[in-house]
Amino acid sequence: MQHVLVTGGAGFIGSNFIHYLLKAEPEVRVYTLDALTYAGHRQNLEHLPDDSRHTFIHGSINNRQLVDNLLRKYTIDTIIHFAAETHVDRSISGPASFIETNVVGTFTLLEAARQAWLEEKIVAQPRFHHISTDEVFGTLALDDPPFCETTPYAPNSPYAASKASSDHLVRAYYKTYGLPVTITNCSNNYGPRQFPEKLIPLMIFNALQGKPLPIYGDGQQVRDWLYVEDHCTAIHAVLQKGRLSETYLVGGRNQPPNVELVRLICAILDEHFPDSPHYPHADLIQFVADRPGHDRRYDVSTTKMEDELGWQPQYNLDQGLHNTVAWYLKNSNWITAVTGGESFANWINENYTQRGAETQ
Ligand code: NAD
Ligand code: TYD
Repeated sequence: MQHVLVTGGAGFIGSNFIHYLLKAEPEVRVYTLDALTYAGHRQNLEHLPDDSRHTFIHGSINNRQLVDNLLRKYTIDTIIHFAAETHVDRSISGPASFIETNVVGTFTLLEAARQAWLEEKIVAQPRFHHISTDEVFGTLALDDPPFCETTPYAPNSPYAASKASSDHLVRAYYKTYGLPVTITNCSNNYGPRQFPEKLIPLMIFNALQGKPLPIYGDGQQVRDWLYVEDHCTAIHAVLQKGRLSETYLVGGRNQPPNVELVRLICAILDEHFPDSPHYPHADLIQFVADRPGHDRRYDVSTTKMEDELGWQPQYNLDQGLHNTVAWYLKNSNWITAVTGGESFANWINENYTQRGAETQ
């Protein structure tokens, strides 16, 4: 791994991974390809550990000619593919871009890699690592065992279906053409630089302003939560020691129901702001109309990551949430920059007003 193309590196996990990788691998050069959609921000790539080893390219994974040029110009030997449309609620109100980016975009990258690496053999030891989600497996009942690498796919949202499609394409490119691939399916990430449309940063963002904290349905849905730095170490472990064509499940072993998670966030804000007019912040919780097709429960077995690669998550939920809240408190300029403008306000109105939620 010398010349790494990171797609979607201006988003939440991709940017955390680039910060991590430049520190962990002192020789590696990183090339970020990002379309800078509403979810991608150049600020996420400021203050990198070694900026001289990073190049930013503004463009889309759907632009085949651009991808072809990048692979050759920078003799890319590793693609780490994060770029995607990622928000389930947006996939319900507008699925088309999920198909375009997550399915067609992944196909475009795979085709470009196949031509450059397998036909023209521009590098000796290439690798395509695909970042995916546990949502491809669908939903669990309360007493079901956790997802594992052999659980059949049963995606329930357009987002999950588009990621499942991309996983299948990646797998097929190994089986059919021998493209050297690995896949990680990870549970819900949280931590610095997550766009405040997702549950944890939205709750911090709203609570700080004394706005209602909208909880879908009865709030008893369960996700497995992983601090983003643990996801970065997991991807690194798979790149270093993972077996080609294998899938690895990554999770954090933290599974509070949504409403409990929001209460934990509120308690941390109470610690920081005991004199706030919004104290106790949990009083801001508001139950609102549920998400259609809302998956009830996710849980992932990380046995394969542990046994084969010796990986384990390092952060428990309490540490991870304290770090996350502290980061958002310290980076109010970032929040203002990424939520400024009409696009974020329009999304909040569109998604929450129709649920009967107060947006003020
Ligand atoms: P994000 O929404 O924060 O960032 C996505 C990035 O992709 C943005 O920078 C965006 O500009 C870029 N992008 C979108 N379309 C593009 C295109 N056509 N070409 C180039 N760039 C494009 O997402 P995230 O939360 O960082 O997720 C990254 C990856 O991890 C995704 O593949 C997602 O499915 C997967 N994942 C996320 C989670 C999670 O909890 N966030 C969990 C498991 C897996
Ligand atoms: P989210 O962060 O959107 O991630 P995902 O849907 O990919 O798991 O949502 C996490 C959980 O929180 C999910 O069960 C939906 C719920 N949720 C709310 O209750 N209210 C909200 O405003 C949001 C955004 C999510």
